[in-house]
Amino acid sequence: MKIIRSVSEMQQRCLAAREAGQRIAFVPTMGWLHEGHLSLLREGRERGDLLVLSIFVNPTQFGQGEDFESYPRDLSRDAALAEAVGTDIIFAPEAVDMYPRGYASYVDVEGLTEVLCGASRPGHFRGVTTVVTKLFTIVQPHIAFFGRKDFQQLAVIRRMTLDLNLPVEVVGMPIIREADGLAMSSRNVYLSDDQRRQALVLSRSIAEAKRLAAGGERDVAAILAGIEEMIRVEPEARIDYLQICHQYTLAQQQRIDADSVLLLAVFIGATRLIDNSLLLPE
Ligand code: PAJ
Repeated sequence: MKIIRSVSEMQQRCLAAREAGQRIAFVPTMGWLHEGHLSLLREGRERGDLLVLSIFVNPTQFGQGEDFESYPRDLSRDAALAEAVGTDIIFAPEAVDMYPRGYASYVDVEGLTEVLCGASRPGHFRGVTTVVTKLFTIVQPHIAFFGRKDFQQLAVIRRMTLDLNLPVEVVGMPIIREADGLAMSSRNVYLSDDQRRQALVLSRSIAEAKRLAAGGERDVAAILAGIEEMIRVEPEARIDYLQICHQYTLAQQQRIDADSVLLLAVFIGATRLIDNSLLLPE
């Protein structure tokens, strides 16, 4: 496995791999790898000849007062995990090389980015779509893997890839959870033991909403009222949003149907956690 820091070296390497007829599989991340990231890499290993992982804590997707500085970083830890699942190249650029002096170009996806996380984190998706476009241009992947954990991010990236005719197949992958249900996230390291216990309210809310839907409840307001009460019981939980939306348009729904997805963002203390699930079996 090779670690490449230079943007131009990475691009040359990938252009050469393409010329040689290799299929490039790509997993973009911000590092502090966990089983969620590794599941994407394993799928990429199966479906590509050259498996590229990027690790870049992207400053443009963090807002003022968010955790850009404190975001966990440990390249040697990540390199060992990545190598064990067969990664060929880690691309770990420096921020000054991704955004040099005079940098002025951004990618904006309208509509889908204005709701949910986009409403609570202004500018966040502009940073995500900009860096993913840059990474696609540098790494030149045939296929790229994203987790459904970040459901809205996946929808926005699919929209952008389609709109801009980017020649990349975008694959969405299932959410990987801890044994007790907590969705894996690099941000889980911020939680104290007590907060970690309170954080289980996210996956419990999803289970409860699914139970109600399976029992025939179709009224969105009734389901949301039930789980809102569950969340309010946890002393350090503060709801950022709690919505049931159409899985493709992200428009809020009144009635549950086969496209209904529950999306929630909840602060546990200072840590903002997200989770989601379709409510009816696929
Ligand atoms: P990061 O949060 O590191 O996540 C990298 C990828 O791993 C994303 O596609 C995310 O959805 C996926 N992922 C995270 N937790 C997961 C879990 N529990 N199960 C399955 N997949 C999971 O998302 C980003 O980084 C950044 O916004 C990025 C796309 C790299 C752009 O900077």
